[in-house]
Amino acid sequence: MLQVLEQLPVDPILGLSAACKADSNPHKVDLTIGIYMDEQGICPVFEAVRIAQRALQEEEVTKAYMAPAGDELFNLGMQRLVLGDDSSPLADGRVSSIQTPGGCGALRIGAEIIHAAAPHARVWVSDPTWPVHIPLVGSVGLGFETYRYYEPHSHGVDFAGMVDDLKNAGSGDVVLLHGCCHNPCGADLSLSQWGVIADMAEQQGFLPFIDIAYQGLGYGLDEDAAGLRLLVSRLPEVIVAASCSKNLGLYRERTGAAIFVCSDSASASAALSQAKSAARRVYSMPPAHGALLAGRVLSDEHLGLIWREELGAMCERIQGLRSSLRQALEKNSGADFAFIEKEKGMFSFLGLGAAQTLRLREEFGVYMLDSSRINVAGVNASNVDYLAQAVAKVL
Ligand code: LMR
Repeated sequence: MLQVLEQLPVDPILGLSAACKADSNPHKVDLTIGIYMDEQGICPVFEAVRIAQRALQEEEVTKAYMAPAGDELFNLGMQRLVLGDDSSPLADGRVSSIQTPGGCGALRIGAEIIHAAAPHARVWVSDPTWPVHIPLVGSVGLGFETYRYYEPHSHGVDFAGMVDDLKNAGSGDVVLLHGCCHNPCGADLSLSQWGVIADMAEQQGFLPFIDIAYQGLGYGLDEDAAGLRLLVSRLPEVIVAASCSKNLGLYRERTGAAIFVCSDSASASAALSQAKSAARRVYSMPPAHGALLAGRVLSDEHLGLIWREELGAMCERIQGLRSSLRQALEKNSGADFAFIEKEKGMFSFLGLGAAQTLRLREEFGVYMLDSSRINVAGVNASNVDYLAQAVAKVL
C-alpha cells in the first residue's frame, strides 16, 4: 500500500532551517525559522519558566492524562493575558477556552469549530499570510479567499485594498487576522484601522479569527493585544488562536490556547464541548508540561513580574536589532531600509527575489526564506555587518 506514496518536498521553513544547521560555513547566518535568539545565537529558556520548572519537578505527583480542556490555571491565565483583566466578555461569562498543542493546535481547533458551525464558511486570509495557515485551517475542509494586505513597494499595509476586498466578506464568512507582528511581513494595522475592521465586521457580520502568536514582541503585552481587544469589545463573536511558543519561549512544549468569545454563556459552553470533542478526534488531550509551566508563570505575581521583565527586554532588543540592521544595510547598499525599523516583531521582508536569496545562501551562507522573509531575532552584533555586506552584494 505504502509504495504508492510520493516523496514530498521539505517544508519551506523547517527545511531551510535544517539546511542552515547542516551548513559548515563558519560565517553562516540563520534568519529562517521564527525563534528568538540571543547574542550567542541561542534560543534561551526564560528564567521565570526555569523557576516554575524546578517547582513543578518537586511537586508533580502524576503523569496521568490532562483533562480534555487542559489545565484550568493555564486557561484562565491565557484568557486574561489575551483579552485583558478587565475584559467585559470575561466578566459576563461568555468566554471559553481549551489548551491546545501550540498555536497550530489552536488554529486547528478553531477551524474545527468554524466547520462544525458553518461547513461552507469561507476563510479570508491576508496576502501574504503564514504559509501554514492554509493547509492547517484548510485541513478541516474549509475554503479560502484572499484579501490584499502587504504592498511591497511601499513596504506597508495596503489598507485601502484590504478594506475593498473585505467588503465581499459577509455573514457566514471568517476573516483570519494576525493579532500583531504580522508573519511574514511585520507590518501591522494601526488601532484606528482595527476600528474600521470592527465596523465592517459589525455591519457585514463576518467572524474574526485572530491568530496571536507574538503577543509581547511588538510593543508590549497590552499594546500588542489592543486591536484584538477592540474587536472583542465590540463584536458578539471572536475566535482567538494564541501561542506561548515565542512570548514564553515554550516552542517545543507545544503550548497554546483556542479562545471562544461568544454571544452568551450557553454558546461559549457549547463551543467548548465541540472543541473537546474535536480534540478527542485528533489527539485526545493536550500535552501537560508547557501549560503547567505557563499556568504557574501567569498566575504567580512574582514569576509574572520576572517574566514580563524578560519579555520586555527581548522586545526592546528586537527593536534595537531592527535599528542596527537598518543602519548596516543602508551603509553598505545606499538603499532605503527605513521600513525595517517601522515593522514589528520578528519578521520583515528584505524585498529580494528568490534568485537573490538563493545567492545569499549559496555564496554567503545567509539563510532566509525564498520570499526574503528574515527573522530579525537571528541578527546579532557579530553577524550584522557580514549580513548587510552580503545583501548589498546581491542587490
Ligand atoms: C515561523 O513562521 O517561522 C514560525 O512560526 C515557526 C513555524 O512553525 O513555521
